[in-house]
Amino acid sequence: MNTNTTSTDRLRTLPRAEVHVHLEGCFEAAMLEQWATRFGEPLPRPRERLFQFEGLADFLHFLDWACGLVRTREELAESAYAFSQRLAASGTGYADLIFNPTHWSHWHGRLPAMVDALDAGFRAAEQDGLPPVGLCVSLLRTQSADAAAELVDGLLQMKHPRVVALSIDGNEAAAGRTGPRFAEAFRRAGAAGLRRTVHAGESSGPEGVRDAIELLGADRIDHGVRAVEDAAVVQLLADRQIPLGICPSSNLALGVCPSMAEHPIEPLRRAGVPVSVNTDDPALLGTCLEHEYAMCADTFGWTDAELRAVARTSIDASFANDDVKASLREALACW
Ligand code: ADE
Ligand code: ZN
Repeated sequence: MNTNTTSTDRLRTLPRAEVHVHLEGCFEAAMLEQWATRFGEPLPRPRERLFQFEGLADFLHFLDWACGLVRTREELAESAYAFSQRLAASGTGYADLIFNPTHWSHWHGRLPAMVDALDAGFRAAEQDGLPPVGLCVSLLRTQSADAAAELVDGLLQMKHPRVVALSIDGNEAAAGRTGPRFAEAFRRAGAAGLRRTVHAGESSGPEGVRDAIELLGADRIDHGVRAVEDAAVVQLLADRQIPLGICPSSNLALGVCPSMAEHPIEPLRRAGVPVSVNTDDPALLGTCLEHEYAMCADTFGWTDAELRAVARTSIDASFANDDVKASLREALACW
């Protein structure tokens, strides 16, 4: 991380929400090493290269290994609590946190127990004055329509107040066009009152973003940056005011964008698409939210008014309840 510390410190005070961040991307190296040692599991590569990834497929594979180390309810609750501490340290007032049950091999078939354990961690965190969190439970792009139906059945049976949305992430380049496969699951989730957030336009092009809108009814799109390749898709996002949860460092690390100067967040924002700034997988990518804002401000010369507008989008685009949104908007008005 090498943005100037004054702007990073100042941006830590900017009231905002984070709407695109994965629990799977929040493991610190020391924690993973400790868990791996306990189970006598070798690290998948040498310690000094543990967080060096060769693109999205390698990255997702690593998530399976890391999440496979988490075995107990206490460890899950600790991960949730640690996530809320991370938010507080970044000055973030609320997060929609994506978690994808497929990565957590020890917990397969036990979604209610997982949600319950995470909820315990978030409740403890809120009692200690840490920021609130909503859960977006995620499908993986390479899953089947039956698996998607089963996940939605589970969520609708649970009706857990911590769960705010159905999500889908993973590798669209590996899965091919899957919008039609998941349309019914997303339709049912939406009809039952869950919000919908969809990874698209990262490992897919603008056609993936269009499918996210037209087939999956996305309330929000995670990444979406490759929409910039098709003016009609950019217009669709702007006309319908569908927000993008953009993660600059992730796009650089996973080879989606060659440099910050060429990052599509600026042309998309200028075209009237609602954009927010996020971390995706902060621990694994060595970033934090204030650094992502500072990088954008430094690269594109964002004024305070522009920073405030992006922060405002993050709050509006979040699935937080009305009270949380109102208090964040009030704080933002005073910034
Ligand atoms: N899961 C965690 N990070 C991801 C990303 N950047 N794209 C797709 N799936 C993910
Ligand atoms: Zn993501």
